[in-house]
Amino acid sequence: MAERSIPLIDHRQLAARPAVPVHAAQPSGLLSDRRGRALHDLRISVTDRCNFRCSYCMPKEVFDKDHRFLPHSELLSFEETTRLARLFTLHGVRKIRLTGGEPLLRKNLEILVGQLASLRTPDGEPLDLTLTTNASLLARKAAVLKAAGLQRVTVSLDALDDTVFRRMNDVDFPVADVLTGIEAAIAAGLAPIKVNMVVKRGTNDQEIVPMARFFREQFGGQVVLRFIEYMDVGITNGWRMDEVLPSAQVVQRLHEVFPLRALEPTAPGETAERWGYADGRGEIGVISSVTHAFCGDCNRARLSTEGKLYLCLFAQRGHDLRALLRDPAAYDDRQIAAAIGQIWQGRDDRYSELRGSAAGAEAAAAKVEMSYIGG
Ligand code: GTP
Ligand code: 5AD
Ligand code: SF4
Ligand code: SF4
Repeated sequence: MAERSIPLIDHRQLAARPAVPVHAAQPSGLLSDRRGRALHDLRISVTDRCNFRCSYCMPKEVFDKDHRFLPHSELLSFEETTRLARLFTLHGVRKIRLTGGEPLLRKNLEILVGQLASLRTPDGEPLDLTLTTNASLLARKAAVLKAAGLQRVTVSLDALDDTVFRRMNDVDFPVADVLTGIEAAIAAGLAPIKVNMVVKRGTNDQEIVPMARFFREQFGGQVVLRFIEYMDVGITNGWRMDEVLPSAQVVQRLHEVFPLRALEPTAPGETAERWGYADGRGEIGVISSVTHAFCGDCNRARLSTEGKLYLCLFAQRGHDLRALLRDPAAYDDRQIAAAIGQIWQGRDDRYSELRGSAAGAEAAAAKVEMSYIGG
């Protein structure tokens, strides 16, 4: 087989330094972008490393021993991350999700969780604080994360069949250890757990019904399984439309075995469409970024491991907030918050809606990698 040679664009060099407004107004908490979308979720990547090599995210041929991950000095410190997170709360952020790479690879992550858990919204509420993990280290970490203030976890798991799963994670990691991680998280009080399955037609779509059956029967209402359409994130995963199984077909296949009924959304701007089992034994979700874009009310900002702000999962450029944090001019919180506000006000991103159009094709050429800014 011919070797795939895929140029990886180094987004770490591309980010623009944000302007600091001369008259820095106090954040109002009512920020709105150019499409009238509020800022509600902040997804923070705490490492660009992962111990898995899922081909749809970090294909082995690209993320090999020659790939240069960020050195520790480049990463935001926990104090820098928490400082920025607090400024985001002043602009309306209510929910923080820690991601990676694999976030549990970041040493002493519970210390950061503790700092973020102590943040409050302007009206005194704690944030919704959660984390997305492949669960390889979850059994070891669940209790300490819960004690530090983590509220929930989302676990990625693409198959129950061990052979299929080992092939998809491409590092021969067994399903049994992920399930142990899920059990430990439930025991630690982190339920309800969301389990995310990326569906690739021809690779793991035969696992849809077994996954649903297993989590319904073994974990009842404690696990919500979500099926994610395989997306064209980044430029290294060799994405093809014929490998996408539209969510409508996922729902149809499940409905034939376990009758489903549509549920109301729980929050505006939600990624997943919810379906309940007609017999009341829990629910599932489908995330249809390819066949049914949900950019219209997308309220998510993403912060990379070294402090670059991305306004879309498919963005071509970040905004280098770390440059402001570490500037000798020692900008104060009000100035940095004003810079963040100005960036969000200029936001026009809606890649999933443009996919397939001329504007989408132009944007597609230089998308950021998901392992760098997090899912
Ligand atoms: P919950 O509140 O736990 O439901 O969070 P969530 O719905 O944001 O879920 P999660 O963080 O688990 O995201 C699930 C998957 O949806 C991600 O891994 C991505 O594949 C996809 N996703 C999340 N946010 C976006 C987004 O803004 N745009 C697109 N296109 N896909 C997204
Ligand atoms: N398509 C869909 N989801 C993806 N993820 C990573 N790459 C892709 C992709 N190409 C998501 C998975 C995983 C999370 C960390 O990121 O949901 O669980
Ligand atoms: Fe790692 Fe998650 Fe990406 Fe898989 S999808 S390589 S587990 S970050
Ligand atoms: Fe939001 Fe971009 Fe995803 Fe659309 S494609 S939902 S704008 S992150």
